[in-house]
Amino acid sequence: MRPASPAIPGSGHLPPPDGLEILVPAARIADAVDRLAADLSGRYGGREITLVAVLDGALIFAADLLRRLPVRTRLATMRASSYRDGATRPGPLRLSPDAPDLAGRHVVVVDDIVDSGRTLARIRREIQALEPASLRACVLLDKPDRREVPVTVEWVGMAIPDRFVVGYGLDHDGRYRSLPYIAALPGGQGS
Ligand code: IMP
Ligand code: MG
Repeated sequence: MRPASPAIPGSGHLPPPDGLEILVPAARIADAVDRLAADLSGRYGGREITLVAVLDGALIFAADLLRRLPVRTRLATMRASSYRDGATRPGPLRLSPDAPDLAGRHVVVVDDIVDSGRTLARIRREIQALEPASLRACVLLDKPDRREVPVTVEWVGMAIPDRFVVGYGLDHDGRYRSLPYIAALPGGQGS
């Protein structure tokens, strides 16, 4: 028998670790994902969508979004290296080797957060070159104050202030992805 209120690490029943400050509780994330799923599926009139999830950060968001979409979907994943940690040039964008062909498909890029906009702008360019029938982007979090390049994001879950955030798939040095909420590092760390 499970206890009524299980203290599962990351379940939200525990106080945030390491002085993290909760910015977006799990219930607000769930509301945003519900709304995004409704907006997104309404846009395609029953046609099949191919989601391209940008790993690792969008793993949890994409999994939740996918399960709320009442339309036929296919899933592809890709990796994009971060510009942080002194990297001056982006690493290669890599579509998973067994990804479905994107040509002629209605493609939606799913990412965790748009910050400078560079990663998403580049992903859009590279996928556009594969000649999808349409290409749109759905991002859970937006830090509009940090934009360096213009990029179109058709669906945004919510805007957040210019803080480095973790949880719900987002990490800092590989940590905190499993937290069910979005939290900011204490004292401006990470930016
Ligand atoms: P951009 O190219 O500057 O828009 O950066 C986008 C990528 O940087 C995101 O997909 C994340 O992987 C990472 N990133 C940007 N801001 C944060 C943050 O606050 N927390 C965790 N990762 C972030
Ligand atoms: Mg990312």
